[in-house]
Amino acid sequence: MQLNLDIFPNTPPPASLAALAAVEVLASQGGVEARGAVFTRREVVDFILDLAGYTSDKPLHEMRLLEPSFGGGDFLLPAVERLLAAWRIHGDGGSIFDALKDSIRAIELHRDTFQITRRALLEYLKACEIGALTANQLADAWLVQGDFLLAPLASQFDFVVGNPPYVRQELIPEALMREYRARYATIYDRADLYIPFIERSLCLLAPGGLGFICADRWMKNRYGAPLRKLVTDQYRLKVYVDMTGSDAFLQEVAACPAITVLDLGWSISRLDGLCGCIAYGGRRDKAVFPTRARRRNRSRVSTPC
Ligand SMILES: C[S@@+](CC[C@H](N)C(=O)[O-])C[C@H]1O[C@@H](n2cnc3c(N)ncnc32)[C@H](O)[C@@H]1O
Repeated sequence: MQLNLDIFPNTPPPASLAALAAVEVLASQGGVEARGAVFTRREVVDFILDLAGYTSDKPLHEMRLLEPSFGGGDFLLPAVERLLAAWRIHGDGGSIFDALKDSIRAIELHRDTFQITRRALLEYLKACEIGALTANQLADAWLVQGDFLLAPLASQFDFVVGNPPYVRQELIPEALMREYRARYATIYDRADLYIPFIERSLCLLAPGGLGFICADRWMKNRYGAPLRKLVTDQYRLKVYVDMTGSDAFLQEVAACPAITVLDLGWSISRLDGLCGCIAYGGRRDKAVFPTRARRRNRSRVSTPC
């Protein structure tokens, strides 16, 4: 695991050696299913960045964005595009590295995926006429290879966006699952890995917004009860978009996905009385989110609803 993590004073105790060994196996060998690797379509990413408020009319270089599982960079690269646009509008013309080094933290567990996306980021920065040395410095500052659920991180981010991994507990090594259970109160019953991802992301959220696309099961089923309680007690459900039946991902996924935007606003939300609920599933707005049928040839990742 790389060590360029921000050390937060309340850094949790180090994980057990058995858990770290399991992380290492997932980082070096974990297959697509074991890592929950499902990638998000560009128009959905832009929609979520807009909903979360990460827009270049704001001085984004003065804010911090977290992508907890960046995969192929489907959120990361559009976020960098918006950040650079904002810096060109609002920046003071000083050193780009000094201005932007703290603007993004993005984490990825799988080492090969991390390296491939790091190279894609460097290519993108080069295309934006940022010199190789600065581009490498920015990539080193922004990207972390490791387990988001165990990594010590600075406490506050104005924005958290992404598509957390969908991994059933049976696929997570027992020692690692024990470590997660000791750290995350929302892991209950058969909770999927995206549940502690939401819990940790909320704990790291400053006033701003969290925008995730993930399975909607936690809003309805038994294992989601502790997370529902956390959200209703301490956060606000700002927007909920039902994406069932729309084609949000680059693979076909047998999950029931939803876009959820949460913030620290006073807790007006009740999950049985949503304040911003849009159902795309029935309408299947083909212009924006092509339906599954049109992408039937894509590989299939099976996550039961
Ligand atoms: C569902 S994909 C999402 C990728 C990207 N955010 C997107 O939307 O296209 C999940 C990614 O999380 C990574 N991952 C799995 N477990 C992780 C963990 N504990 N910490 C950080 N990343 C993890 C996987 O390797 C995979 O690339």
